[in-house]
Amino acid sequence: MAVVCMVVLGGLVLMMLCICSALLRWNEVKYRKKGLPPGTMGWPVFGETTEFLKQGPNFMKTQRARHGSFFKTHILGCPTVVSMDPDLNRYILMNESKGLVPGYPKSMLDILGKCNIAAVHGSTHKHMRGALLALISPTMIRDQLLPKIDDFMRTHLTSWDNKIINIQDKTKEMALLSSLKQIAGIESMPISQEFMTEFFKLVLGTLSLPIDLPGTNYRRALQARKNVVNMLRQLVEERRGSKESIPDMLGLLMKDDDNNYKLTDEEIIDQIITLLYSGYETVSTTSMMAIKYLHDHPAVLQELRKEHLRIREKKRPEDPIDLNDLKSMKFTRAVIFETSRLATIVNGVLRKTTHDMEINGFVIPKGWRIYVYTREINYDPFLYQDPLAFKPLRWMDKSLEYKKYFFLFGGGTRQCPGKELGIAEISTFIHYFVTQYRWEEVGGDKLMRFPRVEAPNGLHIRVSAY
Ligand code: HEM
Repeated sequence: MAVVCMVVLGGLVLMMLCICSALLRWNEVKYRKKGLPPGTMGWPVFGETTEFLKQGPNFMKTQRARHGSFFKTHILGCPTVVSMDPDLNRYILMNESKGLVPGYPKSMLDILGKCNIAAVHGSTHKHMRGALLALISPTMIRDQLLPKIDDFMRTHLTSWDNKIINIQDKTKEMALLSSLKQIAGIESMPISQEFMTEFFKLVLGTLSLPIDLPGTNYRRALQARKNVVNMLRQLVEERRGSKESIPDMLGLLMKDDDNNYKLTDEEIIDQIITLLYSGYETVSTTSMMAIKYLHDHPAVLQELRKEHLRIREKKRPEDPIDLNDLKSMKFTRAVIFETSRLATIVNGVLRKTTHDMEINGFVIPKGWRIYVYTREINYDPFLYQDPLAFKPLRWMDKSLEYKKYFFLFGGGTRQCPGKELGIAEISTFIHYFVTQYRWEEVGGDKLMRFPRVEAPNGLHIRVSAY
């Protein structure tokens, strides 16, 4: 009897699924070729921003169930098309030259500067990206950056023994201060502390409403930008005055030879802000979440620790991590990818249309935003078996990193140029952390997953020597 019931029930479920999927397809076909993609625009001015921010990924999934994986909405002050289709996402990212340029909010562009990489397209972007790639090339990582990262991490991680630390704050400090050291060798605490305070205000403003009134995050961030620019200008002038040629990132940016396009001071400063900003939140949040997942998965931590102890065994305590060590950290790389996937450090990227254009059979008007929403791809059971589980081993199959739907670092012409540098930083941090310390969570801290991954009151851990 039970078996018959199950078969009948199974049949009914299957029939329902077929009907739902047919309805979905019909919905898509109905709207296609008729103009705008399907979807709702919500209230005047506010659109569906409240639902988007409150319900987060569930809002996206509900809209997808109603309208298909390419739908219109109105969020964060702009008419927007959300694309959740992996192939369309790829198409959009690969076709900037057809008029699908970065579409980040006005506040972000005002605060990061008009020479920021997200503000330029076409040949200027190509040129700027080339200049940035030269600063973070594999040779630069080997000779210049990795030794500095190593030195920084050793100091940053000293005296955590027997303390309760907020790992969120520590990883944020780490990401920013380590970059400052790589860019210009800045280490002296008073300057870096002052810089850090202003930089954090700047970051907060990039995701605020662009309302220039006293007390708003936007106004505070504009002021912080002025202070950051002044500090960086002083740095550039000091370097110029010293006549010394230092082969670090700042030295390369300021290099004045016949083969190089000579950057103005304004361009140099915006390039530095681009570097600091792009690597800051991604590196810090991935590092914090790696610590969280490792804490929750002791067997993975044990495996990871083995990898790092093996490296340490061959070295004297004072020997730094070198490029070969980094290359041998295969499991660490897997842990970083798995953290980035499961936590969804980057939900997606924003583009906007430079003219009316047709995508997927719909017309997208000029100036509309396109949210290339890649989050759901991270949990697709066809791409990642058992997608909600933390299983770094899946990345030991190297081909996963080169699959066509690998968007953890973006895709197309804007794919993250700092990927390997970011991995080098997180790996070195993990190396010194897991070989020196064990830790447990104090408990009671909340984690938010959307719109960004963060612990609103910090993530506190009790650390002791390993
Ligand atoms: C785990 C670390 C990182 C993640 C997950 C990450 C992710 C991303 C993503 C998704 C994009 C694409 C943005 C878009 O298409 O609009 C991007 C772009 C970019 N990233 Fe990263 N990133 C990381 C680390 C870094 C680091 C350390 C740096 C700097 C040294 C950096 C520099 C950049 C720059 C300059 C761009 C803009 C590229 C362009 O517009 O051509 N990133 N990153």
